[in-house]
Amino acid sequence: MKTIYSAIQPSGIMTLGNYIGAVNNWRTMQSDGDNKCIFALADLHTITVRQQPEQFNKNCWSFYALLLAVGLDPKKSIVYLQSHVKEHCELAWLLNCYTYVGEMNRMTQFKDKSAKHADNINMGLMDYPVLMAADILLYDTDLVPVGYDQLQHIEITRDIALRINNIYGDIFKVPDGFIPKVGAKIMSLQDPTSKMSKSDTNPNAVISCLDTPDVIMKKFKRAVTDSDTTIAYDPQNKAGISNLLGILAVAQGKTIEETLKDCEGFRYGDLKVRVGESVIEMLRPFQEEYNRLIEAKDYLTACAKEGAEKAREIAENTLKRFKEALGYIL
Ligand code: TYM
Repeated sequence: MKTIYSAIQPSGIMTLGNYIGAVNNWRTMQSDGDNKCIFALADLHTITVRQQPEQFNKNCWSFYALLLAVGLDPKKSIVYLQSHVKEHCELAWLLNCYTYVGEMNRMTQFKDKSAKHADNINMGLMDYPVLMAADILLYDTDLVPVGYDQLQHIEITRDIALRINNIYGDIFKVPDGFIPKVGAKIMSLQDPTSKMSKSDTNPNAVISCLDTPDVIMKKFKRAVTDSDTTIAYDPQNKAGISNLLGILAVAQGKTIEETLKDCEGFRYGDLKVRVGESVIEMLRPFQEEYNRLIEAKDYLTACAKEGAEKAREIAENTLKRFKEALGYIL
């Protein structure tokens, strides 16, 4: 049995990138009976960027409902909020003492976010990967399904775990990252050389999983491509078209090769419409389920509580194991 662990921040909107690169794969992994799956809302990570409390609270509800709407089943998987399990913070502190400032300084996301939020380069922003390492290591995780942008954080998690294991013996399981073959990096629809990101200020660049069909179609029709006319999969030289092909492949559940065949004889405009239609269809049942769940606060509360209890049971044991090895009186 493999333990699968991943998390998403409840900030802004859930994008098509989050859906394709991460949460949709979580659902697939959940359906493999040999996997033990644990998924979290990384709400402690979110306040590394200043949040407006009312909106943040709304986002937490919304993202929790989104996770269930994707098909994460609280009866099969543990689906919980990071802030409900205090062990995350405690382990993060302990791991801090085994992590070097130089390592954190080199993290790409830290450098990007520091540049973006120059007025708020707080300790949390720098320490973010250590908290993420704590998330993963608490659950004896084998595999961490993420998009491409999180791989560096998984590498540092492995480094920290190995460093500690070298000193104290077999304390932590050393996890592997897992990225999907297609869709690990969904690009902006307006600048296909950069990642589709929640924080993009141009709404046409990003599809929200909750966009209406009209809006989705409009955004795809406006997607930036190139001045050529050939439909080919070549992310280096044809970033826009390749991005659309990748999205279409996932939305239709096909390979890139099959998708290219389907698009034979298409003009760019035809491809854009096909992608729009397929994404609308892919998201339709998910949006319907979300609209139902977001009204069911009592159910969401009960699921989150149960998830936290199950998570805590595992987390407590791992933390105890490490503290014992460190010499703490328990
Ligand atoms: P977050 O909230 O930024 O993103 C959630 C997941 O979505 C993936 N993703 C994408 N995949 C493909 N294309 C894109 N354009 C795209 N944008 C985002 C991300 O790679 C991620 O898998 N630090 C994490 C949350 C976290 C976590 C963890 C993840 C906290 N603790 C422990 C794994 C394990 C984050 O901010 O993800």
